Amino acid sequence: MRQPRILIVDPAGPAGLAYGRLVARLHPLEVQHAPAVPDGVALLAGDSFDLAILTIRDKARATDLLAPLVAADPDLPVIVVDAAPTAEQARACSRSGAADYLSLETVDNDLEDALAEALMASRRRSREQTLRRAIERPYSFEDFLGESPPMRQVYSLIERVAASAVDVLITGETGTGKELVARALHRRSRRADGPFVPIDCGAIPDALLESELFGHERGAFTGADARRIGLIEVADGGTLFLDEVAELPAALQAKLLRVLQERRVRRVGARKETPVDVRVVAATSRNIDAMVEEGTFRRDLFYRINVVRISLPPLRQRGDDIGLLAELFASRAGREMGHQAGRLTTDAYQVLQHYHWPGNVRELQNVIRRALALASGEVAGVDDLPDELVAAAGGQRDTATATDDGFFAERAAHVARFERQYLTDLLQRLRGDVSAAARLANVPRGTLYRLLKAHQLEPARFRDDRGPTNRPANGASDA
Ligand SMILES: Nc1ncnc2c1ncn2[C@@H]1O[C@H](COP(=O)(O)OP(=O)(O)OP(=O)(O)O)[C@@H](O)[C@H]1O
Ligand SMILES: [Mg+2]
Repeated sequence: MRQPRILIVDPAGPAGLAYGRLVARLHPLEVQHAPAVPDGVALLAGDSFDLAILTIRDKARATDLLAPLVAADPDLPVIVVDAAPTAEQARACSRSGAADYLSLETVDNDLEDALAEALMASRRRSREQTLRRAIERPYSFEDFLGESPPMRQVYSLIERVAASAVDVLITGETGTGKELVARALHRRSRRADGPFVPIDCGAIPDALLESELFGHERGAFTGADARRIGLIEVADGGTLFLDEVAELPAALQAKLLRVLQERRVRRVGARKETPVDVRVVAATSRNIDAMVEEGTFRRDLFYRINVVRISLPPLRQRGDDIGLLAELFASRAGREMGHQAGRLTTDAYQVLQHYHWPGNVRELQNVIRRALALASGEVAGVDDLPDELVAAAGGQRDTATATDDGFFAERAAHVARFERQYLTDLLQRLRGDVSAAARLANVPRGTLYRLLKAHQLEPARFRDDRGPTNRPANGASDA
């Protein structure tokens, strides 16, 4: 990790006693000096620092000096070093946002600890901010959403192969995002300015597929009354996306292999071949390896397109990505229906986690849309989910809507109270550190955030209860 950069705002300057002592203490950290608060503010605007130290002396109104620094960068920890410390001054600094308050007299002893603590707190804050941002706009890559380890592997593979010219085979169940991968590969390639040409080999009748792909000359067959450029040629300089490539009939598999080997196409009825510069990205939701073994897909063509394989994990293997995606789809669907943003109940999230999602992301998207359409307001609950999902989750019910059912209602209320108490204890113990709390409770952070939201618990409230440590002005005590 890079060394922290520290700004010292000390009006007495290098000639003054405080500065020399601070610099000596801080050695070998990188230190910059500002002779007055406005200089400090200017430096903060132009450069990035990890921490600031503000020295004050006599009856200086510490808070007046502190405020502009805190305002300049609210995330920057500021340690106040006071030559004439008082308890009242310490409290005022704490209220004005100082990370710590030290006496100049004991600064040699206290600085190191104060520094370590302030930096740690600030790193934790920035980590949590990243996290919070990730929750608000969950980890995304191109058009993908999701931060599960198998998806991160997919992103990293896309990043690594996109810029190269190699052909790619994308495999994955239906609705896992194969087309998103193909588009991301194109966008990140040197061909991004060229065309992206998708063709669904499974959706075009065999009889038309050949001329669709390869084009034809005028009069090549009855009805061919004009010359037609095939999609392979259209993709020249760009990316040809062969979707459902396993559906290609045998004859076309052979012709395609030639194109990939020679990088030339021959239009139907043409005598000459035309050179093409295409990158082929193929996709299939079939078990293409088994098809090769069975002999229904040409082995040589398979080897040619399987240079790099990107396998998309099914949604059920993406852990809490289900929750992240559901949150996004719900908020979108809610807006489509004219609400602020759609939401789901905690119980509905639980149900989603238990289902096996054979239709993967697309199915999830449809389920959430439907749920929000059925919901009476902007919050969809378990009752708005399809029966088979609820059944798969063991018929769990909504804590909020089960009020008409004595036993369930009571149990739900108990569980909710317990849950709230547990979360409160956890946050208190870990001083609002949500990542640590998630680790301790052994739940994904996203889940914990949603629980906190559901209980309207604000982690920040547990964070600042300690405030700056008020070290004694006279004693040499150093905890
Ligand atoms: N990780 C993701 N984040 C956000 N949206 C996604 C993600 N994965 C898929 N989607 C969305 O889900 C839908 C299905 O994705 P896509 O069409 O790429 O899947 P596919 O694997 O090609 O499916 P099929 O095999 O049925 O053709 C699209 O609307 C896509 O935008
Ligand atoms: Mg597709």
